[in-house]
Amino acid sequence: MKQVLLIGIGPGDPRQVTYEAVEAMRRVSVFFLLDKGQAKDELVQLRKAMLERYLEAGSYRLVQVEDPYRDGQAADYVDAVRDWHERRATLYARLLRDELGPAQVGAFLLWGEPGLYDSTLRILERVRQQGVSLQLEVIPGISSVQALAARHRIPLNRVGEPLTVLPGRRLAEQGRIDNLVVMLDGQCAFTELTDPDLLIYWGAYLGTVDEILIAGPLHAVREQILQAREEGRRRKGWIMDTYLLRRPR
Ligand SMILES: C[S@@+](CC[C@H](N)C(=O)[O-])C[C@H]1O[C@@H](n2cnc3c(N)ncnc32)[C@H](O)[C@@H]1O
Repeated sequence: MKQVLLIGIGPGDPRQVTYEAVEAMRRVSVFFLLDKGQAKDELVQLRKAMLERYLEAGSYRLVQVEDPYRDGQAADYVDAVRDWHERRATLYARLLRDELGPAQVGAFLLWGEPGLYDSTLRILERVRQQGVSLQLEVIPGISSVQALAARHRIPLNRVGEPLTVLPGRRLAEQGRIDNLVVMLDGQCAFTELTDPDLLIYWGAYLGTVDEILIAGPLHAVREQILQAREEGRRRKGWIMDTYLLRRPR
């Protein structure tokens, strides 16, 4: 039985790693880090810096591997993600078999909250199906959605109101928008919205030294957000942003 921890590490600020997460890190012998190419190298460095900050040097081992190829242009999004998860499952199964001893604890450091738009739990289910028996533990983390609301000093919902969270590619099919959070929006789906009443609370690189916040009527700040995204991407090679859209009452 392989013992594996999925540790939520928050959206980038090492001070937003919970005490429970730090205690969990201290039990770990092997951390598995997925290298997602040059553009995301900084995210690997941020994870390493968190380990250096909270753990004694030499008390753990890092196993860094390259993330399997993902076809970002595939016509069928769901099929492409399924294939990619299968490749990741095969990689994880091999890592857990070869790199983690029977008495050792392994861990994945997961961005934000492990239960929100993170596939590691689903992938480890496939690893189980490949015959690796696992004992899993999940440590919750602060999500980028929570960080966004805190930075803008707004509640995520108003009284009695539901909150919808969706990926950018599903925004166009929404009907009336009252209160929703958009993540994973590489295509800037907000630029297609024409509703003149909507407000946007946008944040990029939340919790990091590069954090950018912009808020206001969507039609008034749309261009400013596009420029900030472009500039951030040019300077750093990558961007992670999330936003809340709200209709004033
Ligand atoms: C694969 S999802 C992971 C979400 C993560 N589990 C969480 O709880 O925040 C990646 C998306 O989360 C959002 N995100 C994650 N970290 C962020 C950050 N530091 N600043 C802004 N958005 C972030 C972006 O929308 C990004 O496209």
